[in-house]
Amino acid sequence: MFDLSEVARGLVAPGKGILAADESNKSADEKRLAQYGIPVGPEMRRQFRDMLLETPEIEKYLSGVILFSETLDQKDDEDGLYFPESLKKRGILPGIKVDEGLEPFPDSPEETITKGLVGLEERVLEFKNKHHPGFTKWRAAITIDGDRLPTTRALVENAKRLAIYANEVQKAGMVPIVEPEVLLDGNHSRLRCREVITKTMQALIAAMEDQAVDMGAVIIKTSMALSGKGKDGEGKNGSVHADTPEEVAEDTLGALMEAVPAIIPGIVFLSGGQSPDEAIANLAAITKAAHAKNVPWPLTYSFARAFQEEALIAWAGKHENVPAAREAFLKRLEQASAALVG
Ligand code: G3H
Repeated sequence: MFDLSEVARGLVAPGKGILAADESNKSADEKRLAQYGIPVGPEMRRQFRDMLLETPEIEKYLSGVILFSETLDQKDDEDGLYFPESLKKRGILPGIKVDEGLEPFPDSPEETITKGLVGLEERVLEFKNKHHPGFTKWRAAITIDGDRLPTTRALVENAKRLAIYANEVQKAGMVPIVEPEVLLDGNHSRLRCREVITKTMQALIAAMEDQAVDMGAVIIKTSMALSGKGKDGEGKNGSVHADTPEEVAEDTLGALMEAVPAIIPGIVFLSGGQSPDEAIANLAAITKAAHAKNVPWPLTYSFARAFQEEALIAWAGKHENVPAAREAFLKRLEQASAALVG
């Protein structure tokens, strides 16, 4: 019998982590391709995914890749395999984003709530039966504004939806990644971020208990505790001072240890708009402190931007640049994997 907790543990296997390549079509076009002057549309999105996913040797550093639904039905250039098949052939587990994005939260319209519970059961079963992914992802976004946001209502409603989703996905025989991303935008301090991550995780754990989620077969994806990067994202980490990796490690682990029980089989980090260097340096410091503190869960990466940024710049949408782009991508994977040693 298929053991979900074994699948979860495989996703956080030593030295490996996850690539998030699950941008919706709109985000892939606007926030990835167009951002780097690359033409948009389904074929360019396919080439973008091919550039990343068909990089030789990524299986040394990746246990899984989170995909968007469109990519499931696209094929790679070299062997003409569907991307999920191509990944599986190399021992990388394909996963699928199953939420349907964000919308304003009616009770507090400056905050967001994640859509996608309507029809989730059918959607999840269809993915499972047609493409056989091993895991899924649902992302909520938590906004900080001073002591005003997030509201408890937004935290609780997002946590409840994450938990309902997780239960549904486990029933369908896949591992859910639950991702309540605490956003980096804003002028908050790192300590305020730590407090919000703690509250977010406490709400999530309580909601998963309510929904009878199997805690031994769910992966938590979280932000690191960082100072806000300014209202419009300009400026480097924090209006007051840039956080040192040791400070980030202390507060990130402090929040997680206060809220997340030992039974959770793994915690993975998003990069959240940090530069590749920052994300990897902070991951290394977190891992090092985690060893010293003997934290109960394996920790690893599940980055999108910090892995893709330099590859996109090198690629620029041109076939002849694919080798250079893959080299840049592989280098970051290698560094992130090395950061896990602590
Ligand atoms: O939903 C966000 C992705 O899973 C992680 O993306 O590393 O660019 O924050 P990021």
